Amino acid sequence: MDTPLILCEIIDEIAWIKINRPDKLNALNQALINELHQQLKRCKEDETVRVVILTGSGDKAFVAGADVTEFVHLDTSAAQKLAVDGEERIFSFIEHFNKPVLAAINGYALGGGVELALSCHLRIASDTARFGFPEVSLGIIPGYGATQRLPKLIGKGRALELILTTKLVNAPTAHQWGLVNEIVPQQELLEKAAAWASQLIKQSPSAMARAITSVNAAFAEEEKGFRMEKKQFASCFETDDFKEGVAAFLEKRKPRF
Ligand code: COA
Repeated sequence: MDTPLILCEIIDEIAWIKINRPDKLNALNQALINELHQQLKRCKEDETVRVVILTGSGDKAFVAGADVTEFVHLDTSAAQKLAVDGEERIFSFIEHFNKPVLAAINGYALGGGVELALSCHLRIASDTARFGFPEVSLGIIPGYGATQRLPKLIGKGRALELILTTKLVNAPTAHQWGLVNEIVPQQELLEKAAAWASQLIKQSPSAMARAITSVNAAFAEEEKGFRMEKKQFASCFETDDFKEGVAAFLEKRKPRF
C-alpha cells in the first residue's frame, strides 16, 4: 500500500494533520492537495474536532512549496486552474474554516508552504524554521494567495522585500515581522502547539467560528486582488523566464534571466 501523503489523527479534540512527503521536503503535489482537502473536510464536519494543527513530517521542512516538477507542462489555462482549485480547496478553505487552524512550522516554509501557513489562523514556528518565496527566481509569482495575505500580515514593504528578493528569513525575523505568533525550540514545537490548542478548546466553538468569519470580513474586498494574482500567476507560464526558471530548478543550477 502507498504511504499516505497526509496523516491525520484525532486526539483529545485536536486533529493533528501532518504533511507526509519528507523525501521531497513535503512539497505540495496534486495528489497531496487532494488528500489534504479530504482530511480538512472531514475535520470540518467532525464535531469532536475543536482545533486543527497542521505540521510537516521530518525535522527539515514544513512545506518547501508547490511541487515544481508538476509545473513543467502547464500552459496558462492549466496554471490558472491549478491556482484557483488550490485556493478553493486548501488555502481559502482553511482561512474560512469553522474552527481554529494552527500551523506548527517545523522547518523550511517556502512559497506555497508560507502560503499554507498564512491561510491558517495562528502560526507557531520552531527556532529552525526558514521562510521565503523563491517564485520569482523560477520565473513565476506566488499563486496561492501570498500577494494578498502577506502584505496584510506584515505590511507591503516587507511583503515585497520577501517576494522580490527571494531572500530567506529566520524564525526570529519572522516573529519580529509578525509572520508568526511565537517561536519555540524545535523539540518543543508539538508540545507548544498542543498547549495553544488546549487554550482554544476552552473557548466557545460557536463564538470562535463567528470571530473567524468576522475577522475575515475585514478582508472581503480582496476578491479582486486574488483574481488578479491568479491571472498574473497563470500568465507567467507563457514566458521564456518561466521555461528557464523551471529548467534551472530541474537541472539544479542557477537560472540565467
Ligand atoms: N518541488 C519539487 N521538489 C522539491 C521541492 C519543490 N518545491 N523542494 C524540494 N524538493 C525536492 C528536491 O528536488 C530534492 O529531490 P531529490 O532528492 O529527488 O533531488 C528533495 O526535495 C530534497 O531537497 P534538496 O534540494 O536536496 O534539499 P537541500 O537541503 O539541499 O535544500 C531547499 C533545501 C529547501 C533549500 C531546496 O530544496 C529548495 O530550494 N527547494 C525548492 C523550493 C522552491 O523553489 N519552492 C517554491 C516552489 S514555487
